[in-house]
Amino acid sequence: MKNIVITGGAGFIGSHVVRLLVNKYPEYKIVNLDLLTYAGNLENIIDIKESQNYKFIKGDICDEEFITKIFNDEKITDVIHLAAESHVDRSITDPLSFVKTNIFGTVTLLNSAVNAWKDELDKHIFYHVSTDEVYGSLAEDGFFLETTPYDPQSPYSASKASSDHFVRAWANTYGLQVKISNCSNNYGPNQFPEKLLPLMINNIKNNKLLPVYGKGENIRDWLYVVDHARAIDDIFHKGEVGETYNVGGFNEWKNIDIVNHLCEIMDDKLDRTPGESAKLITFVKDRAGHDHRYAIDASKIQKELGWEPSLQFEEGMRKTVDWYLENEDWLGHVTSGQYKSYYKIQYNQE
Ligand code: NAD
Ligand code: DAU
Repeated sequence: MKNIVITGGAGFIGSHVVRLLVNKYPEYKIVNLDLLTYAGNLENIIDIKESQNYKFIKGDICDEEFITKIFNDEKITDVIHLAAESHVDRSITDPLSFVKTNIFGTVTLLNSAVNAWKDELDKHIFYHVSTDEVYGSLAEDGFFLETTPYDPQSPYSASKASSDHFVRAWANTYGLQVKISNCSNNYGPNQFPEKLLPLMINNIKNNKLLPVYGKGENIRDWLYVVDHARAIDDIFHKGEVGETYNVGGFNEWKNIDIVNHLCEIMDDKLDRTPGESAKLITFVKDRAGHDHRYAIDASKIQKELGWEPSLQFEEGMRKTVDWYLENEDWLGHVTSGQYKSYYKIQYNQE
């Protein structure tokens, strides 16, 4: 019997992790703890909201008194920690929010876990979900390994790197049993349209310009979000305590190529003339300190835990586009209000 608190379970990746665990482990209690910031949305997990083994609690991971109460009231046995500020562009304009949530929030959770579990630390797992961005930026060759030295370059990645260090420090100093994973770029249903692919899907649909930063030559390694959720399940259940696992899609794309490919899929889905959507592509001012390339070597999780991506990229992209086209209400809700002012400031356009 486990009572697992999943933080950030109303966000993009967290909602897929919550769904997977609620459906796969009816004997567990899954507590979804989320502050419902602009990125958190209960519509992401509406399908499991009535499940017997599921409970949503709204709250802030930075609030120690509240977190301590959750550990006690819900008899939390394990943590899977995803709550974070997650968008690099926002970290450039508002770094302190990232320091607060990603560092202070993580340390608050670590403290509460050690206090709640101090008499039997060996019976509990604190699993921290992190990013490949902690390793910095690659040139054209090479891959990030679990042993690659940390070299974060943005306020977002520096805050995530810092949180990883705190997690390891709590293992070393207090004996907390921790696991960490560092994953590459996720794509799929429910991603907030500030990130590259859903932003482009929304803009193509609405015939708006497609803002590609710089020359579009930066490279990312894309993984379907459900495959990341499967990796998190495998690491939580089968991963070694104290170990780090890199998770990636073996799937590198230059930004301009992935946007062009998306345009082709959208032309097809929207019955447009081939090439019509790509005419919307516009090169805009580059992101400050833009990391050139991320690429994960995921052979450790493949060899040790038998995980690998289940979906081919082409299928994943088509499923993603279909989801956004079929979920107009979801897209309408998240792009109303605050999103409009964010978009205007970030892209200098309506
Ligand atoms: P997201 O921005 O979609 O969701 C973050 C969630 O955290 C939201 O539901 C938000 O309401 C919640 N949250 C924020 N501050 C909180 C607080 N103080 N207390 C409680 N909840 C709070 O993020 P995502 O893309 O789903 O990423 C989830 C995690 O995975 C993050 O830790 C991120 O660093 C990591 N990650 C993301 C990617 C990616 O491609 N998106 C890749 C690798 C790792
Ligand atoms: O690598 C994992 C990381 O991937 C996660 O830790 C982050 O939470 C997640 O946001 C993502 O970070 P990126 O910065 O790589 O993702 P984003 O979708 O913001 O951008 C992908 C690439 O596309 C990047 O090179 C910047 C570029 N881009 C992005 C946007 C939003 C554009 O060219 N135009 C845009 O409008």
